[in-house]
Parts: sequence; C-alpha cells; structure tokens
Amino acid sequence: MAVGVGMIGCGAMGIGIAERLLRQSPDIHLLGLNDPQESSIQKTRDRLKTDAKVHDDYHALLADKDIQWVMIASWNCFHHEQVLAAFDAGKHVFCQKPLAITAEQCAEMYHRWKRTDRMFNIGFTLRYSPHYRKINQLLRDGAIGKIVSFEFNETLEFNHGGYIMGDWRRLTKNAGTHLLEKCCHDLDLANWMVDSRAKRVASFGGLDFFTPENEKYIQKIGKNKEGRSAYCSWIAHSNFGPMVNPFTSDKDIIDNQVAILEYENGVRATFHANCNSAIPERRMYICGTEGLIRADVLTGELQLKRIGFDTEIETLNTIEGEGHGGGDEILAKELADSMLNGTEPSTGLEDGLTSAFTAFAIDEAMDTGKVVSLDKYWALLNE
Ligand SMILES: NC(=O)c1ccc[n+]([C@@H]2O[C@H](COP(=O)([O-])OP(=O)(O)OC[C@H]3O[C@@H](n4cnc5c(N)ncnc54)[C@H](O)[C@@H]3O)[C@@H](O)[C@H]2O)c1
Repeated sequence: MAVGVGMIGCGAMGIGIAERLLRQSPDIHLLGLNDPQESSIQKTRDRLKTDAKVHDDYHALLADKDIQWVMIASWNCFHHEQVLAAFDAGKHVFCQKPLAITAEQCAEMYHRWKRTDRMFNIGFTLRYSPHYRKINQLLRDGAIGKIVSFEFNETLEFNHGGYIMGDWRRLTKNAGTHLLEKCCHDLDLANWMVDSRAKRVASFGGLDFFTPENEKYIQKIGKNKEGRSAYCSWIAHSNFGPMVNPFTSDKDIIDNQVAILEYENGVRATFHANCNSAIPERRMYICGTEGLIRADVLTGELQLKRIGFDTEIETLNTIEGEGHGGGDEILAKELADSMLNGTEPSTGLEDGLTSAFTAFAIDEAMDTGKVVSLDKYWALLNE
C-alpha cells in the first residue's frame, strides 16, 4: 500500500528525518511541502531530490486527499495549531518535540487526539537510541533492583550553546524555554526510566554566561581550523546561514539550570543543564536497591555494577550509528512501519505531554522560587 506524506517545516530536522524515512520503502511518497522560508524549500528539494508540490499555506497541504501522514518540524510555537489542523483534516501525525509551548495547548492537543483514531508519533529521537533502550531494558529486567534516586544532565558543547543563543530558539515566544525546547528529551527519558510521573519539583537557573560582557570570549578562544569563530561554529550554522551574535542577541532564555524532582512512585532525581561546557555530557547515574548504572550517550559508555563485595563493573558500548545516539535511523524505520503497517508508535502524545508538563512545572518553580506540585497540570487532563 502506498502512503502519501506531507512536510510542514522543512529545516534541518524536517529534512533529516524525511531523508531517512524515504529510504525505508519505495511505497512512501513525499507529496507536499510547506515552509515560509524559500531557502528551506530549496534545500529540501535538493537533499531529498523531490518534486513534491509546494504549498504556501499548510491548510492546502492538509486538504490533499493523497496525503495520509503529516510530518511537522516547524518552530515549536506552531506545533499546536498545525497538529490540531492535521487531526481535523483526518491525518496521522509525526510531530517534532516538544509537543507545544504552553500547558493549555498540550492539554487541548491531548483531548483532541483522544477523540480521533489517528496515530501520533512525537520526535523523541533519543528514545529509539540503542543506548537508552539498553538502560531501560536493564532497569525493567531488575539489573539494579528498584530505582531509589538518580542524577541526569545535559551540558552542551560551547558552540552548540552559542547556536541556541543565536537562532530562533533564543526566544521563548518561538520555542518555549530552553528546558522545554532542548531538555524535554531528558525529562522524557527520565520519566521513561523511572516509569512514573513527577509529583513535585524545585529549580534554580539563570542567564550567566551568554551576556554582552562575555562577548570577549569569542576573541579569547579564537577560531577553529576552518577559520570559524568560537561560539559560532556549531555544525548547523553552516547549513542555515548567518547567525545572530549569541552574547548580544535579544534572547530571553537561560543558559544554566538545576532542578530536583520527586516522582509519584517515590524516586528522587536531580537535573543539570548548562549551555557552555568544555566536556559536554548527556549522562545518567541511576542508584538502585541492588546496583548502579552510569551511562553517557555522547560516549556511548554504559557501566553497570551490582552491589556486593566482589562484583565487577560491567562496561558496555552502546553506540550504533549517528544522529541522536543512533536513534534517528531507528525512529525512521519505526515511523515507516507505522505508516505502512499501522504499528503503534513507541513514543506518543502522552509522552510529549508528560515531558512538557514536567518542564513547565520546573520552570514555574525556577520563576517563583517555590516547590511546585504538578497536580494542577495533571488536572488539565480531566475533562
Ligand atoms: N528530535 C530531535 O532530536 C530534534 C532535534 C532538533 C530539532 N528538533 C525539533 O524540530 C523542529 C525544527 O527544528 P530544526 O532544528 O529543524 O530548526 P530549523 O531552524 O533548522 O528549521 C525550522 C524550519 O521551520 C520553518 N518554519 C518556521 N515557521 C513555520 C511555520 N509556521 N510553518 C512551517 N514551517 C515553519 C522554518 O522556516 C525552518 O525551515 C523544532 O520543533 C525542534 O525542536 C528536534
């Protein structure tokens, strides 16, 4: 059976996943493109070698009866309206993370999805990575007993931080907060590992490095071998044009944040994000009643040790392939399977919503200086 696909948002991630998806089967046909930026449409045409119809208005794309699946990879602030419109048009949806930028939007999407029989897959690419799948399997198999507490983090390479402070993600009106936009992956992974949802949270954070007085670091660190300046050399820059100076930009996001979380099942966790790291990490340190898992997706190293006098550290290397710890390729395979065979996606709307609600509560705690209960967020799910 042939499947028609439309793309709304044709930037780096839109193209990246579509490219992998189209390789999965000749029965998946890209039929429509929508993006306000002509350069993104042109890149999509070149990279995907497609002559798919270009629609100036995404509603026209949604009206195409030959399109059954829509892939949304626009700015986060547009996910809400575009996903709802896609459901209204009877389409199945693959939408990039985060689900949306406010709790009310997420709740509305949840209720609308509950009333459709359409599939929804959220782009939590790391969930598909063999690294995280291995950790989750070890936890489910009881390799470290019951989780008691854990640490997790996402600290970004300094150019990656510079990129975020310079592109559309620098403004919460486009992307939501940094925690929501970038660390919704980490919160989702934590929720999945703990197999529960957060009950209450607290947090501190701020913008302490990417400020105008630190612009001097661009000169101080100097240029890379290709002659590109420090803080302006993230790979995506070369794909998507000139950028705004990350130190003097009109951003309203923070560059460092810490949070503590207590889950409904009693597990406690700490999270740390920083956008200017010399040794970037995406690490988990999970303490269970019978052992410990220490793992970093960036190195692919996963260590496991059982509690005991003569137990040894078992070290596994879990990296298979590129793109979010090998997750992009597996996500594309599973997405193709959903499209062609109706297989339920591994990550769905409820995962997107749970991660987003956790981010909203943590940011509320940071903004108010209070411990925040998530009860009021979960209450939005009652009709
Ligand atoms: N799953 C992941 O690991 C991952 C990684 C990166 C980005 N993302 C997500 O993918 C989405 C796109 O990010 P990106 O890195 O590709 O950014 P990008 O800047 O490379 O591309 C965004 C594209 O969206 C287009 N766009 C803006 N407004 C639009 C609208 N109203 N309708 C249609 N298109 C519109 C822009 O013109 C641009 O071409 C975001 O939601 C982001 O959070 C996910």
